[in-house]
Amino acid sequence: MRVDAYDKVSGRALYGADRVLPEMGFAALALAKIGRGRLSRVDTGAAEAVPGVLLVETRFDLASPGFVMGGGFGFQSLQPMTGDHIAYRGQPIAIVVAENPVAATEAAEAITAEYEPEPFALHLDSEGATTLVQEEAIPLPFLADIKVGDPDAVIAASPVQIDNVYEHPPQHAVPMELNGGVVEWQGDTLIVHEGTQNANAVRFGLAQQLGIDPADIEVRSPYLGGGFGQKNSLLLHIGPLAVLSRRLGRPLKLVLARPQTFHNGSFRPATKHRIRLGADESGQILAAIHEVDQQTSRHDLFPAMHTEVTGRLYGFSAFRGRQRLVQTDVQTPGYMRAPFESPSMFAFEQAVDELAIAVGRDPVELRLANNTDTDPITGLPFSSRHVDDCLRRGAELFGWSARNPEPRSMRAEDGSLVGWGVAIGNYPGNVAAAMATLTADAGGRVTVSVDGHEMGQGIRSSIALHVAQDLGIPVADVVVQVGDTTVGTQHLTAGSWGTATALPAVHSGLRELRKLLNVADSGDVDVAAAVSIAGQPVQVTVDSLGPGQSPDVLGQARSGHLAIAGPVFPGFVTFSWIAHFVEVRVEPTTCRIRVPRVVSVADCGRVASPVTAASQVRGGVIWGIGAALREETLMDDRHGFLNTTLEEYPVMVNADVRRIDVDFIDKPDYQFNPVGVKGLGEVSMVGAAAAVANAVHHATGRRHHRLPIRLEHVL
Ligand code: MOS
Repeated sequence: MRVDAYDKVSGRALYGADRVLPEMGFAALALAKIGRGRLSRVDTGAAEAVPGVLLVETRFDLASPGFVMGGGFGFQSLQPMTGDHIAYRGQPIAIVVAENPVAATEAAEAITAEYEPEPFALHLDSEGATTLVQEEAIPLPFLADIKVGDPDAVIAASPVQIDNVYEHPPQHAVPMELNGGVVEWQGDTLIVHEGTQNANAVRFGLAQQLGIDPADIEVRSPYLGGGFGQKNSLLLHIGPLAVLSRRLGRPLKLVLARPQTFHNGSFRPATKHRIRLGADESGQILAAIHEVDQQTSRHDLFPAMHTEVTGRLYGFSAFRGRQRLVQTDVQTPGYMRAPFESPSMFAFEQAVDELAIAVGRDPVELRLANNTDTDPITGLPFSSRHVDDCLRRGAELFGWSARNPEPRSMRAEDGSLVGWGVAIGNYPGNVAAAMATLTADAGGRVTVSVDGHEMGQGIRSSIALHVAQDLGIPVADVVVQVGDTTVGTQHLTAGSWGTATALPAVHSGLRELRKLLNVADSGDVDVAAAVSIAGQPVQVTVDSLGPGQSPDVLGQARSGHLAIAGPVFPGFVTFSWIAHFVEVRVEPTTCRIRVPRVVSVADCGRVASPVTAASQVRGGVIWGIGAALREETLMDDRHGFLNTTLEEYPVMVNADVRRIDVDFIDKPDYQFNPVGVKGLGEVSMVGAAAAVANAVHHATGRRHHRLPIRLEHVL
């Protein structure tokens, strides 16, 4: 079940920018039309003349919010409209406020500017792009190259060798809810209604930008219409909106137009992966090397973390991972669902498929033969790793044993080539420090306030179910408050740590609540009766830490910074796992590729909320198919990001989605946390694109080392 389903379908669920306030004004942005250079003049005259326009502003006195991965709060450190440097095409140069959104948009479009353009670089191999070795550019231990054994020597001596380069294009997350929100001042208190995964960073980032006390800022993010990592920090429109709202003495709303979101939000950067494998004749992988180049901006170094996932896939005795960052003239890229894992697995799991073909071994068997219970990088055990069960169960559900290994050997009744592909995926087990407050009232209701943001993944449902099951009360008697800085810290929800962060905090809160209610530590509770004996509502607040986390991180979390741990913990390493089995059909004349069925089996520890969990996996698989067959943000040497509408940036739609069967191993991981849950949202997508690419090879006999695979590539 989904506790917010009725509110959503009835329209009662209010998203950030849905809010309508008295006297509200509407804002719109004008964007730079060069790829890089200096802004010499902005002409706002025509915009100011549009009826209904209240003001046009081109310059703000705002401090940088800092880069969220560099100790700051913003998706990038660069705050537009604070100087005359244009760092990328689509950077805002002016903001208009009007009585209505039509006037605001018309005025924004009437703004013209003069520039002194400079040459700009977009691609990994563009002239002028600057390549940095990550471990030198960001000297942090967890970003250093990974070196286990001597893989170069082992591969050179291996009887079977694979050495290929795989390219993954930039992509944009295009959540249905556009970036945007509503700001209002109540006296000296700034209230922000914005769909964000990180209300706390919005609060502290704004405090830093505006030079005001964070205690005077409230951020409310009751729902997101998709975050996917793009809403993981302070976006650059909120600061200017807050300034203008105060100046006009009116609440203001700004919703970016879809094309504007392609420039004013993070995106999945272009990556290039060289994968080398050395194996024996049976397909036992002896060593692997994964080298990555990842695009970043000029102004921030978005860290690459690809090799820490691929280095854990199989029982390598030797592994090397090296990552480089390529500075280009774009906004800072960032996290887009399974940001490193999906592209990495597209590369690595195709290389493994190529190895299976080279040694003539079934790709499921080959993967099972290379399984391990020990983390190759640290030598520590995995707290749980049931990827072998995922492979076995998936193969059975899919009917894999009927596969003819020969490419182009299987045909459908209509003559379509049929291909069956498999791939596995993994995702780090992360956890954040969290705080939970539980209140039991005389009506028998329990209100839970905890760190978390509801972005459609179903965190409210997971929490409500957990409390209801623990106390033996109806789900309807559980009130869940998340995404609101007035009810808790609201640390970042991302990295698939939401459930594994909130549930342990709630679980420990329930233990304390039971003590205060004077009831047993388990079993059904008559909450109303227990509260009436207590004579007043009973409230507990608990702090919750990940394994081995120092209580100091709570202070970090409370001041708006990241307070996360994983996937390496004292004595163990935690990852979530998945196996995808995909059938593709390639129509013989047009070479149109369809995906009629997928079987995905995940190991996410205990399944906390079956309905929303299955939904997460379906969403991830659909996105993986989209990555394989549809999505690519084109970087044009004159116009920068080119295809910035849903017409031109094709994503999967319902007509593309056929049968997707989802199953779970559902074995709790109590080493990771007392609830036994691991992350699920992002691992769902990991490996799905690789399985599609492997299936396309099986269908057609052709290997594609670059995404997306469209019919013109298959023809
Ligand atoms: Mo996510 S891409 O960790 O919000």
